[in-house]
Amino acid sequence: MSSKIIKFVDLAGEYRNIKKEINQSVQRVLNSGVYVLGQEVENFENKFASYIGTKYAVGLASGTDALTLAIKSLSLKEGESILVPANVYPTIFGVALSGIKIKLTDVNPKSLNIDIENIKKYYSREVKAVLVVHLYGNPVDMSPIVKFCKEKKIYLIEDCAQATGSIYKNKKVGSFGDVSCFSFYPTKNLGTYGDGGAVLTNNKKIYEKVKSLRMYGEQGRYNSLEIGHNSRLDEIHAAILSVKLKHIDKWNLKRRKIAKLYNLLLTKKGIDVVEENRLGKSNYHLYVIKINNRQKLMDNLRTHGIPSVIHYPLPIHFVKSFSYLGYKKGSFPITEKYTERILTLPIYPEIKQDDIIKICQLIKI
Ligand SMILES: Cc1ncc(COP(=O)(O)O)c(C=O)c1O
Repeated sequence: MSSKIIKFVDLAGEYRNIKKEINQSVQRVLNSGVYVLGQEVENFENKFASYIGTKYAVGLASGTDALTLAIKSLSLKEGESILVPANVYPTIFGVALSGIKIKLTDVNPKSLNIDIENIKKYYSREVKAVLVVHLYGNPVDMSPIVKFCKEKKIYLIEDCAQATGSIYKNKKVGSFGDVSCFSFYPTKNLGTYGDGGAVLTNNKKIYEKVKSLRMYGEQGRYNSLEIGHNSRLDEIHAAILSVKLKHIDKWNLKRRKIAKLYNLLLTKKGIDVVEENRLGKSNYHLYVIKINNRQKLMDNLRTHGIPSVIHYPLPIHFVKSFSYLGYKKGSFPITEKYTERILTLPIYPEIKQDDIIKICQLIKI
């Protein structure tokens, strides 16, 4: 076996493949003299909304801000709460910063996504919004959730930070909820070379509110009607994202091919993997297995030059800063069980088939 080191992601490799286009777009912005909230941001917002299938998009400084501003735009009242799956560490910060009351739910043991059974189980009358997270890029089973939220007249929010380009029933995720949130953090399938995010919606009121909140709560320059944020997608990032958007479907397809090979080689050995929604197509942002002897496997992979990562090592109710939520150990058994077992293997468009074969050879039940 070769001693070649396999990367966990290869962002520089991706850049090399599109260097000319990226450099030209960055140069264009630098020459323009407009660096914040100009034509590049507007162009990207229009292209991205049309790619996902919504009327509006607002470019923001991060996915965390997208969650905060999306939730704030719903103007929920004090005491009203939001349901959030207990296994999504990076989501919870943006939710908490909106000031809304948080109620956690457990997840489906096969997909590790929130599902209708858990929503019904943890729902109570003060819940006025449900936040679904298409974790690892795997689309949540949306139809029963959309129906439930309509019946209860509560908001549905999608966290698509990991799911740009993922599909459910022939529509892109991010087009099902009242509002959806995206992250353009560098490692995301559609990522920039820094931080960025977006809120998408078909609702004009939500759109206008988020647009105002990203700029001091203004409606017209210096006319601030509420204390807003400074959360703007920079022109340089918008220009980079416009270039990358042209490649995203091709990249996602490559990831799906890699995932297919992983699935084939691993399920043959009886390895439990995160189950893709049969009604959709994951963009395979992350490829996650569920394994009992995780630490031993991680160590063995490392000695062979293969990195692996845990997404995420703590359920939200075990995180110190969220102890105020008051949940005890055992509150969310599925989340807790799989937090001990999940392991993310390298996946990115540039990875070689031979690398996947080498990784799979080292994984045993
Ligand atoms: C599911 C999910 N939600 C929200 C976020 C937050 O996005 P950002 O890092 O752009 O603030 C992330 C990014 O890690 C994420 O993976």
